[in-house]
Amino acid sequence: MKALPAKEGKHNLTNYEEAVEQFDWNSIEKELSWFKTGKINMAYEAIDRHAENGKANQVALYYSDARRDESYTYQEMKEYSNKAANVLKDIGVTKGDRVFIFMPRSPELYFVLLGAIKLGAIVGPLFEAFMEGAVRDRLEDSGAKVLVTTPSLLERVPFSDLPELKKVLLDDKSYNDQDSFLQLNSRLDDASSELDSIEWVDKEDGLILHYTSGSTGKPKGVLHVHEAMVQHYHTAKVVLDLKDDDIYWCTADPGWVTGTSYGVFGPWLAGVTNVVRGGRFSPTDWYETIQRYDVTVWYSAPTAFRMLMSAGDELVKKYDLSSLRHVLSVGEPLNPEVVRWGVQVFDQRIHDTWWMTETGAQMICNYPAMEIRPGSMGKPIPGVQAAIVDDKGNELPPNRMGNLAIKEGWPSMMRAVWNNEAKYKTYFELNGWYISGDSAYMDEDGYFWFQGRIDDVIMTAGERVGPFEVESKLVEHPAVAEAGVIGKPDPVRGEIIKAFIALREGYEVSDDLKEEIRQFVKNGLAAHAAPREMEFRSSLPKTRSGKIMRRVLKAWELDLPTGDLSTMED
Ligand code: PRX
Repeated sequence: MKALPAKEGKHNLTNYEEAVEQFDWNSIEKELSWFKTGKINMAYEAIDRHAENGKANQVALYYSDARRDESYTYQEMKEYSNKAANVLKDIGVTKGDRVFIFMPRSPELYFVLLGAIKLGAIVGPLFEAFMEGAVRDRLEDSGAKVLVTTPSLLERVPFSDLPELKKVLLDDKSYNDQDSFLQLNSRLDDASSELDSIEWVDKEDGLILHYTSGSTGKPKGVLHVHEAMVQHYHTAKVVLDLKDDDIYWCTADPGWVTGTSYGVFGPWLAGVTNVVRGGRFSPTDWYETIQRYDVTVWYSAPTAFRMLMSAGDELVKKYDLSSLRHVLSVGEPLNPEVVRWGVQVFDQRIHDTWWMTETGAQMICNYPAMEIRPGSMGKPIPGVQAAIVDDKGNELPPNRMGNLAIKEGWPSMMRAVWNNEAKYKTYFELNGWYISGDSAYMDEDGYFWFQGRIDDVIMTAGERVGPFEVESKLVEHPAVAEAGVIGKPDPVRGEIIKAFIALREGYEVSDDLKEEIRQFVKNGLAAHAAPREMEFRSSLPKTRSGKIMRRVLKAWELDLPTGDLSTMED
């Protein structure tokens, strides 16, 4: 597909080359209040600062779902997050404590998240679809002290395994307190909307933990710190192109990094009106959301765009989506086909952005004032140095495929893998380059092109799934002797999860057994982690040390040569 010319109009970033050349992180910091005061707190910077500087009556949050329809000004967000902070303070939350939030999107989720941050606590948002195993891993590893959840999600919280968890707040007006299980809502009502004092923290103090998957081991807790705001703010300006009067909608749930970095921090640091739509994906709901709020800037993901595409162009025509002025995507490769569709139906280029949980914020992006080459992730944000390096950390020339790497030291970089210093170090072993795990190349004009994951991590419908977690869950099922899991290419979801399974003696393949195994993973981990396809074999290819060789499974699946089998067991 042909390149799409730069977009006309006034953008926050007008000349990319010049911005890169003149860039200085210090000048970004100067736009934030702590540059003057030396006092930093993300929640203050995102909410209170605006409430105190002329935006008290501007809507900060529009929230709607099937039952609720509400809006909150910056002043109200300040007050409600103060209330949440007071509720948490009352039950003993102090700086550095881990406060986990496991609930569907709702205004309360955002109050609690901001309130916890006001106390200097480290927040851990969990996606509502997580089942017991996934919830246990995260609460156990983080040593969460407080959990905020709903009564219906409680049964997925294995309290007997979580001695550090001291208090649970329940978001349900009809809930009656029982011991350490307390109703959140009445406490919010009763709490003061003034907070004695925000916990001013150091820019290196912990802010948020997002658990994410690798190809081996359990999910790891990626820790971000308050200084990340510098990059959230910078990218909200130059990539999201946010201006004061924008109505912005990021479709991601705060259980994933996109839903916090760009569903909470970025837009509110930039002082815009933020739209949150609760409930599940639905094309009619989504178009209606854009129409109803006159959304101007919209950030979503390739799988969602592909699903909208398959819902048909006729549907689009039923809505007035003319408010849109800037559309962006993240999470997986954005197919040129989708970009073409965006131009056709919305008259908008969809701007691809590349980043990861670990990078904390956007890194390689397409900008409104730049020519788009459909299929390319764009160019590094001003202030970030990206390169393609070989396995020794040497930079490769244009058009050579290699490791997509980032020069260490950007503000939103993760600062730790929780409880796992050794794992953290492995990211930075090559000459000061952060190794992303993605392979890519850069063309002669500096555009980056995604090629694939180097490890076995699966991206399904934009969600990152570690094959090891799924395999571990599968072998817990009594019928499963061995399991190997791969991502199989899929036109809508990017990849789907396919499991190769060897059954134990005495078990026979049947549709019932397949369904039972699928449900077992779904109920143990999460629906998105359950295999959509299963194939049964008498045994699976393994290395001599007993590791399942996923690359051989993948070669079987795709009908490719299996490559070097010298490490395979006889
Ligand atoms: O493989 C890349 C893919 O998503 C991975 C990061 O996943 P996660 O930490 O869950 O964060 C997703 C949202 C920030 C990357 O290593 N990925 C992300 N964006 C893109 C992408 N792949 C291709 N194109 C992208 N724009």
